[in-house]
Amino acid sequence: MELSRKALSIKASTTLAITAKAAELKASGEDVVSFAVGEPDFDTPQHIRQAGIDAINEGFTRYTPASGTIELKKAVCKKLKEDNGLEYEISQIVISNGAKHSLMNAFMAILNDGDEVIIPAPYWLSYSAMVTIAGGVPVLVYTKKENNFMLTREELDRACTAKTKAIMLTTPSNPTGMIASAEDLKVVADFAVEKDLIVISDEIYEKLIYNKDKKHTSLASLGKEIYDRTIVINGVSKSYAMTGWRIGYAACPPAIAKCISSIQSHMTSNPNSIAQKATVAALLGPQDCVEEMRIEFEKRCDYIYEREEAIEGISALKPEGAFYLFIDVSALFGKKYMGVEINSAANFAEQLLDSKKVALVPCADFGMPDYIRISYACSIDNIKKGMDRIEEFVKQLN
Ligand SMILES: Cc1ncc(COP(=O)(O)O)c(C=O)c1O
Repeated sequence: MELSRKALSIKASTTLAITAKAAELKASGEDVVSFAVGEPDFDTPQHIRQAGIDAINEGFTRYTPASGTIELKKAVCKKLKEDNGLEYEISQIVISNGAKHSLMNAFMAILNDGDEVIIPAPYWLSYSAMVTIAGGVPVLVYTKKENNFMLTREELDRACTAKTKAIMLTTPSNPTGMIASAEDLKVVADFAVEKDLIVISDEIYEKLIYNKDKKHTSLASLGKEIYDRTIVINGVSKSYAMTGWRIGYAACPPAIAKCISSIQSHMTSNPNSIAQKATVAALLGPQDCVEEMRIEFEKRCDYIYEREEAIEGISALKPEGAFYLFIDVSALFGKKYMGVEINSAANFAEQLLDSKKVALVPCADFGMPDYIRISYACSIDNIKKGMDRIEEFVKQLN
């Protein structure tokens, strides 16, 4: 029996695999610290949960329009206008089952077989798999630490071919934690306009910013020409601690929104009706909860960065947003732990999990095999325990 070659070429998400392994070890009684999963450890704020409960009690439990309710699309338009200075009609909004689904829909809506998508590396690992599933070809562009992992004009020029269809952009970034400035975005916008490309702008971490000198700028806000070729992707998973509710959205030119809606109408129909009601409450309700969580993440960010900096042999840029610390461990390659040589980040992560029971993500699948990613979306106590163990592990290398 031959299965789909395309499907067989897709590897399951490493992040989820490591998270599952850590959970397994925990279940067998091991004291595991998990820095693997990119998920806020907070509960969904009470007023949002209540909106979900009310939706059930009021019988809002049937199909909604496949691309989402008008009520939620209006709330999204209001959010985009107030937060990002972007004007959208509801016909330009599609609500989906999480930002991941919105992204997959977007790639399916724009790619023909063989179309290339420029993905700046390091990148969130699902982008390349999604492009492949949609029949496209991911073209990885290796950005540099000295450029804060931002794309440069030269890198774009080198990567662009006659088959290039789109550029992927993520700010704040998973895994680097860097935020694109308006100038960084202008490089991408000018290039996209000049070469007639679409940009998919993933802004899911927009509310989680810690660098006081940086603010989130939405690419589409840079001008009419780039607005007309940008698909803004966002959602409520990270900013409102709503990962399990599964609501994300795309805001884009009407023709693309129409394609996305058609695809979704056949694949999943509407996203969960109850979650849509809860998302209206999230977007239109009080926003103090978002700031409270941001402040907590900022404290963790400061603490974990200070701890990382004190460990000799590893290095990182201070995260500006999101909740990841992206660490270069290559200076340790060639050293041994209990006689076993460490020669890759994957190897580092494996030995750390086996010996010290700390789970983190090696970044080969993010396009940077010398790096590991720590998610600090967990309590300070957990971070302290995990960093103590990493420090001890690195000290024991010789
Ligand atoms: C950069 C990025 N985009 C999108 C997503 C997916 O978010 P959602 O939970 O809304 O599908 C994630 C989740 O880890 C992410 O890190």
